[in-house]
Amino acid sequence: MSQSSSLHVAIVMDGNGRWAGRRGLPRVAGHRAGAEAVRRIVEAAPGLGIGALTLYAFSADNWKRAPGEVAALMRLFARYVRAEVPRLLEGGVRLEVVGRRDRLPVPLVTAIAAAESATAGGVRLVLRLALDYSSRWAIGAGVRLPDVDLLVRTGGEQRLSDFLLWESAYAELYFVETMWPDFGAADLAAAVAAFHARERRFGGLPEAAAG
Ligand code: FPP
Repeated sequence: MSQSSSLHVAIVMDGNGRWAGRRGLPRVAGHRAGAEAVRRIVEAAPGLGIGALTLYAFSADNWKRAPGEVAALMRLFARYVRAEVPRLLEGGVRLEVVGRRDRLPVPLVTAIAAAESATAGGVRLVLRLALDYSSRWAIGAGVRLPDVDLLVRTGGEQRLSDFLLWESAYAELYFVETMWPDFGAADLAAAVAAFHARERRFGGLPEAAAG
């Protein structure tokens, strides 16, 4: 388990659809605003001691959504991955995509491969996008990521939804009502502060009692 000063934070980005609905906008407008939030969070992460950030962008279950929404999300991911490369390079961010690639549209797969190789030298932050990801599938396939220190979920739900089940065995869980498009650097800082205020014992005793 990771006990280093560089944190691995994982986020279930929930609430784009409700954010849009409350404004009378189509769901895809919520996803676009969600992409802006991703940008802000990636920028803020290294300054908060985060060395790895894993974002749940599209779950294997998300294929059940309306075809139009799925197609819009795939286009949004491809656009993000292409457009962000200069910013990622500038910030020392290495991009990696985890999950199945065989069901993703070819232009997205191509954009991912190009962005991964362009940013491979980044050392300040590893940004992992989970796309067509299922933790049960990954466990079955023997795919393991580093242990998660802090798992955040926005949008008010309190469940893991097949995200990093193995890797979150000792993660601190942090749930907030804030819808993902409204989540900003101050919210991430609050989550990290809450993490540091908790005592992680990994099944052992508190330091005072351990003698
Ligand atoms: C959950 O909100 C969000 C998603 C299924 C998609 C996540 C996508 C983004 C944050 C957009 C861009 C991401 C990148 C990496 C560019 P929801 O639609 O389930 O919201 P709801 O629960 O309110 O309906």
